Amino acid sequence: MSEILAIAARPRSVKPTFVAPPRVGEPRDGKVLCRTLELGVCGTDREILLSGEPLVPPGEDHLILGHECLARVEAVAPSVLLRVGDLVVPVVRRPRTPPAARVDMDAFATFTERGIMFEHGFSMPRWLDRPEYLVPVDPAIADVAVLTEPLAVAEKGANEATVIQRARLGDDVWRTTTPRVLVTGMGPIGFAAVLASVARGWPVTIYGRDRRDSFRSQLAERLGATYLPADEATVPDDVERGGFDLALECTGSDEVMLWASQMLAARGVMAWLGSARVPRPTTANVERLMRDGLLRNHVYLGCVNAAPRDFRDAVAHLAVLYRRQPEDVNALITDRVRPAEALAYYESRKPQGIKAVVMYA
Ligand code: BGC
Repeated sequence: MSEILAIAARPRSVKPTFVAPPRVGEPRDGKVLCRTLELGVCGTDREILLSGEPLVPPGEDHLILGHECLARVEAVAPSVLLRVGDLVVPVVRRPRTPPAARVDMDAFATFTERGIMFEHGFSMPRWLDRPEYLVPVDPAIADVAVLTEPLAVAEKGANEATVIQRARLGDDVWRTTTPRVLVTGMGPIGFAAVLASVARGWPVTIYGRDRRDSFRSQLAERLGATYLPADEATVPDDVERGGFDLALECTGSDEVMLWASQMLAARGVMAWLGSARVPRPTTANVERLMRDGLLRNHVYLGCVNAAPRDFRDAVAHLAVLYRRQPEDVNALITDRVRPAEALAYYESRKPQGIKAVVMYA
């Protein structure tokens, strides 16, 4: 294959396909020309494919995938402050009309998301963008900067929970004390939630279905988390002592979520960072969650996408953690493949795989 192709989803197909990338001109009107260096493959990409109904850009018959990206600036229009050679991570969501509050808080589908909703993504060699959507990245973290976008999602959970706790309990909260954090799930967002916690100095436990000696559970421990296997998890008699102050729920499973809700101590917060693509009704005891939630003043917080604040935190936290433990942070990227070999990774994740990265350059 001489030219690097783009990876796309087409309506009525669940298979990823290669398509010729659109032609990209010189940057004009304040724009920036970027080259994709690395691209993360994520559960959202697989869900888009599985739906068979990608939200293609108007007038097109496919959606070019890719929303987790590390790129290099190749050219800039006059007056743009970025420089040729700068490394950047693009944000995903863009307002279509002026956003109500923050664009990450906007009503569903009132925005576009590059690689997800109505706008092509970054699985192509070169693309144009506006500088306000490009987050500068320190070259020292180039090896792992492709993790910025998924980390930003977990940062949003931690940041929103902090803002809410300080608003209702006072400005010292989680400053003079540290919340005990429970992360449920061992996918890329679960690991991102571990990084976001460790970077803040918060003690963190990660719950999953792996055995104690699996690659993932051992990596979680090296990164500073305590691993709690599902088959050893119980609810302590005294949840104030044995429970958690913040749960970052990354499985999207009602069963796991309900267990985690019982683990929340008084004033606890849970952020939902994952959900089932097609929710189905179950007979789980949600009244338990309501009873505990009421008696303990819990907050449940839905969380999608990430604000510029969260992207900046992700970049800063990656820099600190990568300096401290380069090999362990790097180990989160379990597969690095060339574009020509990438399609299989869009169809399934390997059993102990965390993040697969497509190397574009
Ligand atoms: C992305 C978010 C996006 C969400 C829903 C996630 O994979 O990280 O930025 O808002 O999908 O489209």
